[in-house]
Amino acid sequence: MLKNIQTIQSLKGKRAIVATTAYDTIIAKIADKASIDILLVGDSVGTTQLGFDSTVNVTLDMMMHHTSAVVRAQTNALVVADLPFGYTHDSYQNIFEACRKLIQVGASAIKIEGGQSIVSTIGRLVASGIPIMGHIGLLPQQINNLGKYRKFGLDKNEAKELICDAEALEAAGCFALIGEMVASKTSEIIQKAINIPYIGIGSGPKCDGQILVANDLLGFSIDPIPNFVREFGNLSSKALEAFKSYKKAVENGEFPNE
Ligand code: KIV
Repeated sequence: MLKNIQTIQSLKGKRAIVATTAYDTIIAKIADKASIDILLVGDSVGTTQLGFDSTVNVTLDMMMHHTSAVVRAQTNALVVADLPFGYTHDSYQNIFEACRKLIQVGASAIKIEGGQSIVSTIGRLVASGIPIMGHIGLLPQQINNLGKYRKFGLDKNEAKELICDAEALEAAGCFALIGEMVASKTSEIIQKAINIPYIGIGSGPKCDGQILVANDLLGFSIDPIPNFVREFGNLSSKALEAFKSYKKAVENGEFPNE
């Protein structure tokens, strides 16, 4: 069934929402065959595919390129695109233009990192017809301020702030929220406090669903993966085996003459 924001929202309280990232047509098609609900064209494309150290190098042009590739897979899954670094606190006109471009290449919704400080922008975007998925907890686009990735919401004050962020984002019109590396107990409170789906990554089991970066869950990366990730495949070693077999076959002249 073709997913839209309403069908995603209707899953809260019924069954777990299953989401992953996709950056190209083939992964999008394969994930869709597995009936994944949401494909996020994450700015994690920068670190997983493009060789950058963080997501801050990812530009709007790169996001448009990868979003179009995922959209061409014509999935039943809802395709959500990340608003890349540098736009969130830009002028409303620039944010709107960036979101408009991502929607016009085929994304059905945009994910934006941030909490209470961006709710007025989110309200305006939603009113203009751009569905928004919020993102709280660890905000990878803040890496240069943070220094390193860490868990959020472990202490009372930070937990309180995150709960206020979640409630404010729901009130602003977000159709769903991602909570990244949020302490399990805080996630449980957030999940109960809001009526929109709360999808976790490294945020414990008490969420309305889970999202993992495709390369991490497929075991298809060179860099070490976060410790909360469960690998469900080992594509890197399968690819290595295939390349080695190919090399051997070529060296042994095993290719038939045609
Ligand atoms: O870019 C991304 O892949 C993300 C997920 C980690 C949620 O934002």
